[in-house]
Amino acid sequence: MDSAANGRARARESASRDDDSTEAEITKVSAPPAPKPPAAAPARTAETLSITDNRTGKSYEIPIQDGTIRAMDLRQIKIKPEDFGIMSYDPAFTNTAACRSAITEIDGDKGILNYRGYPIEQLAEESSYLETAYLILHGELPARQQYEEWVHNITHHTILHENIKKFIDGFRYDAHPMGMLISTVAAMSTFYKDAKDIFNPKVRREHSYRLLAKVPTLAAFAYRHSTGLPFAYPDNDLSYTGNFLNMLFKMTEVRYKPNPILERALDVLFILHADHEQNCSASAMRGVGSSQVDPYSAVAAAVAALYGPLHGGANEMVLRMLTEIGSVTRVPDFVKRVKSGETRLMGFGHRVYKNYDPRAKIIKRMADQVFEVTGRNPLLDIALELERIALQDEYFVSRRLYPNVDFYSGLIYQSMRFPVDMFPVLFAIPRTVGWLAQWEEMLLDPEQKIARPRQIYTGRERREYVPMERRG
Ligand code: ACO
Repeated sequence: MDSAANGRARARESASRDDDSTEAEITKVSAPPAPKPPAAAPARTAETLSITDNRTGKSYEIPIQDGTIRAMDLRQIKIKPEDFGIMSYDPAFTNTAACRSAITEIDGDKGILNYRGYPIEQLAEESSYLETAYLILHGELPARQQYEEWVHNITHHTILHENIKKFIDGFRYDAHPMGMLISTVAAMSTFYKDAKDIFNPKVRREHSYRLLAKVPTLAAFAYRHSTGLPFAYPDNDLSYTGNFLNMLFKMTEVRYKPNPILERALDVLFILHADHEQNCSASAMRGVGSSQVDPYSAVAAAVAALYGPLHGGANEMVLRMLTEIGSVTRVPDFVKRVKSGETRLMGFGHRVYKNYDPRAKIIKRMADQVFEVTGRNPLLDIALELERIALQDEYFVSRRLYPNVDFYSGLIYQSMRFPVDMFPVLFAIPRTVGWLAQWEEMLLDPEQKIARPRQIYTGRERREYVPMERRG
């Protein structure tokens, strides 16, 4: 959604219009258009859009609300009464708001990202992932007791049913952890049959706890399977990210002690990835959830959407690019290749941000703290040089290409010993709360129905079946 429209869409309304009410609300004016009223006339101050259909000469006034017109308002525009009416065509939804949402606000021109009104910079500085997750799901920051109950509930749902380990065991040694995560999250729906009761708020909350608690366990078990290590069980005395590191990296020690700087760095990375309004995976969650399936099946669809290289996989591509460049001295040559269109500067550019991605700024600052513990990632110098050259170069400046969230995050993950395959998994874990919040908002929105776009049919007209012996 356009950032300005998104900002304006914060004004909530009670959604009572249905498809059939639109014609009644629109003033239809027959051609020729009436002479212009004086500038001060009240009708002209109305928030409407006038459309003239040049096929018929008829004019229509369409209400504008929150900087948006309703696509259904176009349907009254027809040549003959029996016509279907005008549709809007918007492949990839580049200019179509599919919902009203009060969760995340992005202003791509100004480089602003807020969750429930709180700036990402303040949350990264002051909050923890679980507190931010509470905020995203409930709309407000928790009071102390609410926070303690929330942490307790999530912490006490981290253990998996033992049978789920058998699914993980069944995967090949080199199975991609995202493939394992998609499958095992979907499989969880078979363990919790009451999760289908999606309009029961208590049941919804119970399964939100389960998903937030168990997705890190599934992810860690997938990693241990791929490395041939025995599964490490959750330690409920550790923090959310501390326990995740424990399940990944615990070896023979009796108790795993996470490094507090790495634990906090991962927590901040989780905060930065918790939600990002109507992106591909959130749309998948909403679209699949709109069929009223259980949340495990819908989250599995969202994880699948995230798996693609155009969404959750870009940080991996950045790392491969930096490795391929190999040294600072080769950066100018690489930039030349980018400018000639031969390749792209991965981790640069964004559909929505036309300014520095605010998440990238925070990650860049944090990288230094992580490298103090892990040792400096040698690829950092190449990344810094790429950024330095790109930010002064007319090609990147004129196209408003800045580093995005993926430019520096891969360097941190690599330094923390995560294999590249795990990068999209590290995105999926914190994004689970965003998906759940988007799903619940969709379920409770009286304007939402099963998602079902229209098409422009471009195929053959009706024809008669031809038996096989008569086909050419
Ligand atoms: N390197 C070089 N040129 C670029 C880059 C880039 N990374 N990104 C965009 N451009 C150029 C395009 O070639 C185009 O130039 P032109 O006008 O001369 O044809 C112009 O900038 C506009 O680019 P589009 O592809 O139209 O922009 P769009 O909004 O569709 O794409 C995207 C955004 C996919 C993120 C793009 O910038 C890109 O491919 N970046 C690299 C991949 C990446 O980092 N993805 C992660 C995004 S963040 C996330 O999803 C979590």
